[in-house]
Amino acid sequence: MAGTVARRAADQDETVEANRSWWDGQADEYYLEHGGFLGDADFIWGPEGLREADARLLGDVSGARILEIGAGAAQCSRWLASQDVRIVASDLSFGMLRQGLELNHRVSDPSGRVPLVQVDGLALPFADESFDVVFTAYGVVPFVADSALVMHEASRVLRPGGRFVFSTTHPLRWALPDDPGEGGLRVIQSYFDRTPYVEQDETGRATYVEHHRTIGDRVRELAAAGLRVIDVVEPEWPETNTATWGGWSPLRGRLIPGTAIFVAEKP
Ligand SMILES: C[S@@+](CC[C@H](N)C(=O)[O-])C[C@H]1O[C@@H](n2cnc3c(N)ncnc32)[C@H](O)[C@@H]1O
Repeated sequence: MAGTVARRAADQDETVEANRSWWDGQADEYYLEHGGFLGDADFIWGPEGLREADARLLGDVSGARILEIGAGAAQCSRWLASQDVRIVASDLSFGMLRQGLELNHRVSDPSGRVPLVQVDGLALPFADESFDVVFTAYGVVPFVADSALVMHEASRVLRPGGRFVFSTTHPLRWALPDDPGEGGLRVIQSYFDRTPYVEQDETGRATYVEHHRTIGDRVRELAAAGLRVIDVVEPEWPETNTATWGGWSPLRGRLIPGTAIFVAEKP
């Protein structure tokens, strides 16, 4: 019997176990499909193609101690590493980190090689106030049941004045089918329904889980973690971007937001 898709509860342990093995299994395919768009040492916030080099959402990073969570192959950290920063890139999935190791071996400039550690974004093995910046581009946040804990951990390891910045699928997309064409422009479920999306095998065991929060939920999670929201960036789809990435496409990108980037500071 084939696997099924369900809308049902999925707790922290089930979610993390499912997503670790899903990303381990998908790592090669993910980089075959998206590696060209992401580049080996480039910092792109999402399928719209917004670059940190242009947006500067991390602020002035010169001399900064930076932690990337949910880094995948750590292209963003690799871009930052060529500047005057101290960086650590981390991810839950060893499969994704192995892609990062291969990229580290491929880059000719040693300054573009980044330290990689296997870390769950829910339990950071770092001391309080040990970083100036924590960030993730599309990592961790929707892949855990308790995203408020991710915000708490980011806040804990940040020094006062430090920044936590994360991009994720724009919450509005939850209400629409994950279809890059006309079919993806219909509302099929409630934006307010936080029941997780779960792919499961024939025994009912979760193999992939995504959790939804509204924009307001995210702002409240950040505030509860002691962080102050500076901006919520909704990148517009540029005319020059003709790429389709899963449900993200020029057609939908011209009409509705696809990515939300939350920029927060620890007072
Ligand atoms: C969509 S990929 C993004 C990877 C990379 N940032 C990029 O832009 O290509 C999501 C990443 O989040 C990671 N992830 C999922 N749950 C995690 C967790 N609990 N802790 C740390 N990383 C996690 C996955 O292993 C995966 O590498």
